[in-house]
Parts: sequence; structure tokens; C-alpha cells
Amino acid sequence: MIGRLNHVAIAVRDLGKAVAVYRDVLGAEVSAAVPQPDHGVTTVFVTLPNTKIELLEPLGEGSPIAKFLERNPDGGMHHICYEVDDIRAARDRLKASGARVLGDGEPKIGAHGKAVLFLHPKDFSGTLVELEQG
Ligand code: CO
Repeated sequence: MIGRLNHVAIAVRDLGKAVAVYRDVLGAEVSAAVPQPDHGVTTVFVTLPNTKIELLEPLGEGSPIAKFLERNPDGGMHHICYEVDDIRAARDRLKASGARVLGDGEPKIGAHGKAVLFLHPKDFSGTLVELEQG
């Protein structure tokens, strides 16, 4: 059911520092920073030949990554994102198998302008999973 690895997301305290590491130390292609007030984060995408890295910095009060950064003060891997052909069919199949879909279960428009859902880390080996409509 799941397809390509769309991205791996890394939560960071200081986006400028993280961008400098990816761009200047690792020599990667890095996008401009995009504030996503609806999602409580500012994002930068690092484009690699086979996938992307999504750098996430908290934006505003009650950012969904604030608690994660309290537990992981140096930053860390926050979620992985798999592409699916049909996000509603994927959700229904996952729910039928007992997996927990976060929020109200309805796909939301994510950082790439495509429908996304998040799945509970306890059901996926301790990893927060994002599904994105391919
Ligand atoms: Co993501």
C-alpha cells in the first residue's frame, strides 16, 4: 500500500543553523523557509537525489513540535512520510486493522499542498508516520 518515501522530517530549534549545516557542510540543495501558521511550524525542504528532508522549526504558541523539542533539546527525527495512491482508502484500511489515525481522521492539506494524515507512533514501531496523497 505505501509507496515512495516522500520525506524524513527533523525538528530543530534553530532553522538558520540547521539550514547552514545542510547547505554549507553537507552541500545539499535547500529551499527557502516557508512559515506554515496553520501547522504551527516553519519548514525548509532539503532536496536529495532520492527523497527530501523536511526541517521543522516551531512557529507561534502551541506548536505541535514544541513538546518534542522539550524532550529532544538538540532536535531529532520527528516523522517519516510515505506516499499513498489513495489517502482515504489507505486510512480506511489502516483503521480497519486497528491503527490509530491522529486528529479527526480527515486528511488535511500539508506542507506540499497535498492531502496528508498522521498515524499514531505507538502503532508503527515508535515512529510518527505521515501519509501523503501521491
Ligand atoms: Co512531513
